[in-house]
Amino acid sequence: MINKPKGCYDLTGITAKKWKYVDRVIDELMEKYNYNYIRTPIFESSELFHRGVGESTDIVTKETYDFKDRGDRNITLRPEGTAGIVRSYIENKMYGEPGPVKVYYNGTMYRYERPQSGRDREFTQFGVEVLGSDDPFVDAEVISIPVVLFKMLGLQGIKVKINSLGDKESRDNYREALIKYFTPHIEELCEDCHDRLGKNPLRILDCKVDKDNPILAKAPKTIDYLNDESKARFEQVKTYLDELEIDYEVDTRLVRGLDYYNHTVFEIEVDVEGLGSNNVLGGGGRYNGLVEMLDGPATACMGFAMGTGRFIQALESMDVKMPIHDDVELFIMYVSDTEKKYAASLTQYLRVNGFRVDTEYTGRGLKAQFKQADRLKAKYLIILNDEDLKNDEVKIKNNKTKEEELVSIDYLLYYLDEHLLEDDYDLDDCNCGEECKCKGEHDHKCKCHGGENEEV
Ligand code: HAM
Repeated sequence: MINKPKGCYDLTGITAKKWKYVDRVIDELMEKYNYNYIRTPIFESSELFHRGVGESTDIVTKETYDFKDRGDRNITLRPEGTAGIVRSYIENKMYGEPGPVKVYYNGTMYRYERPQSGRDREFTQFGVEVLGSDDPFVDAEVISIPVVLFKMLGLQGIKVKINSLGDKESRDNYREALIKYFTPHIEELCEDCHDRLGKNPLRILDCKVDKDNPILAKAPKTIDYLNDESKARFEQVKTYLDELEIDYEVDTRLVRGLDYYNHTVFEIEVDVEGLGSNNVLGGGGRYNGLVEMLDGPATACMGFAMGTGRFIQALESMDVKMPIHDDVELFIMYVSDTEKKYAASLTQYLRVNGFRVDTEYTGRGLKAQFKQADRLKAKYLIILNDEDLKNDEVKIKNNKTKEEELVSIDYLLYYLDEHLLEDDYDLDDCNCGEECKCKGEHDHKCKCHGGENEEV
C-alpha cells in the first residue's frame, strides 16, 4: 500500500464540504472588499525565496522544498504567497496601474516542517496583499479582513495582537539593542538562537524553544525604539482599527516569523483544544521594502495570510455549525428495467430543476436501497413501480415520518417544492439558536454572525 507523504492530508467527507463552504464565504467577502483573485505558480525559481526573503535562513532555506528540475534549474515549492505575488506584481508591471493593487489568494503552500497538529508540510493559506499604498487605513483594513471572516463564520474567542517594528531606522536601532542585550546571555539560549543573533536577532523573540525563558521577557521592547514618525504612524493604525471597530491588544514582543516586515505586524490567535502552540490562525504585516529588494520600484505593501486547516480545525473543535448539506433531498428507488430507465430520466429532471438527488447504481434490491437511502440521510424517497408509472404517478415517502403518498407526475415539482421547503431549514443549524432567522446563510444579521437577529 502506498501512503501519502508525511505532513500531508487528504481532504474528504464532511470536512471537505466545510472547506468548500469557507472558500465560498472567502470569495464573497473579497468581492465586498473589492480584492481581486490572483493565482501564482506553486513552484518558483529558488532565487525568489532565497535571495528575496532576508536576513535569516529560517523558512527560506531550512524549511523549503528545493529541487532541481530536468533542465537543471533550481526550483522551490512556495512556502508562502507573498514573495510570489510580489514577483508577479513586478513581472506584470502592475505598478503601472492606478494603485493600490488589492489581491487575494487561496492555495497550497509547502514547508519542510516537523509535522504536528496544526503544522503540516502541505497546507493551505488564504491571504491578501495590498501593493502601492502606505496609508495606515490600509493596515487597519487588512487586519479587519480575517476578523470579519471569523465573525461571519461564527468563530468566537479570537484575539488580535498588533505591534510595530517601525521604519528601517527604528528597526536597525532595535536590532542593535537586541544584539547588545542578548550577546552576554547567548549561552542561556537555544542553538538556533545562537544563529539568529547574527542574522536576525528579532527572531529570538519568536523562538518556540525559549518562549518562557526570562531572558526573553526582559529583552528591549520594539516600542521604545520607534522614531517619532513610526510612533505616529502606529497611533494612526490604532485609530483606524478603532474606527473599524476591531478589538486588539498591543504585544510589544510580536515580531513575526518572516524577515520582510516593517511598521505594523499582527497575529490572530484562538484558544482551542488540539492546536496547542499552533493556535495562531493567521498573521501578516507591512513589508515596504520587499518589492525593491526583488528589483521592482519602491512600493509600500501590506498583507496577511491564514492557515485554512487550522481555521477549520478551530471551527470543528468549537463545534461551529455551517450551512452545508450532508444529506440528499431525494433518493430514487427502482427494481425492474423499465423502472430503472424511468429513474434515470427522473433523476436528471429533478437535478436540473434544482433538487439534490441520488439513486441506485449497484443493482441492490429494495431492502438494501432503503438502507442506502438512510445512509445518505435522504429526506424523501421516490419509490418507482411499473403499475404506478402506467398511471403517471410515483410513490413518495417521507423518510422521517414514513408517510407515503401517490403523486401525479404533473404535480411532482410543485409537491416537492412545497414539502421540501417546509422541511428545509432546521433552526438548530445556526449557532445563535432559537430566535435566528438567518436560514444558515452567512450574509445575514443573526447574533452568532455579528448582527442582532434581525429579519433578513
Ligand atoms: P505565516 O505566519 O508564515 O505568514 O503564515 C500564515 C499562517 O499560515 C499561519 O498563521 C498559520 O495559520 C498558517 N501556517 C503556516 N505554516 C503552516 C504549517 N506548516 N501548517 C499549517 N498551517 C501553517 C505568511 O505566510 C505571510 N506570507 C503572511 C503575509 C502575507 N504577510 C504579508 N502578507
